Amino acid sequence: MIKGSAIYPGSFDPPTNGHLDLIQRGSKIFEELVVAILRNSEKTPMFSVAERLEMLRVLTEDMKNVRLDTFDGLMVEYAKSIDATCVLRGIRAISDYEYELQMALMNRKLEPTLETVFMMPADKYSYVSSRLVREVAQAGGPVKGLVPEVVEQKLREKLDPAYKLHDANLTESPRRKKKRKA
Ligand code: PNS
Repeated sequence: MIKGSAIYPGSFDPPTNGHLDLIQRGSKIFEELVVAILRNSEKTPMFSVAERLEMLRVLTEDMKNVRLDTFDGLMVEYAKSIDATCVLRGIRAISDYEYELQMALMNRKLEPTLETVFMMPADKYSYVSSRLVREVAQAGGPVKGLVPEVVEQKLREKLDPAYKLHDANLTESPRRKKKRKA
């Protein structure tokens, strides 16, 4: 167990099974893992920061040493502000390496004392990314097994608002339903 806090920064739009796998692995080696959502990304997100926080809250509620937060501006500044000593990032394939190396070295240039630690998610998630999940879901394809169930549900609600209504009706008590129809 590595003492102190590590930060796992990202967009998490939405969180995938690959993210969850990395959070589980990271929480086993760091005393505290802070999952930090970037607030002011240039990209237009599918889920608001509040929605992403809520999904991550459900996913990590049983992990005692995992904390959630959001940040703005430079990641190294945020890491300093919470006294984190490490940054955790996942590498799925060689294609990730170039971008991650560039980012790790830039962060080291900005803050030499902050170490970046890379971990590999399970190979069954090596092709899973938030971007592809959004693309598949937006085109009506199945994302089962790629994202946790709570995320699957949120994607359905986001892409088909009628689903929420349908779902609410399904869980409505027969008494309330009868009353509503009367
Ligand atoms: O999940 P992502 O989109 O790959 O995460 C990228 C993230 C949020 C880790 C990165 O864009 C970041 O740290 N942004 C904050 C701004 C910053 O510090 N930029 C310099 C990084 S070299």
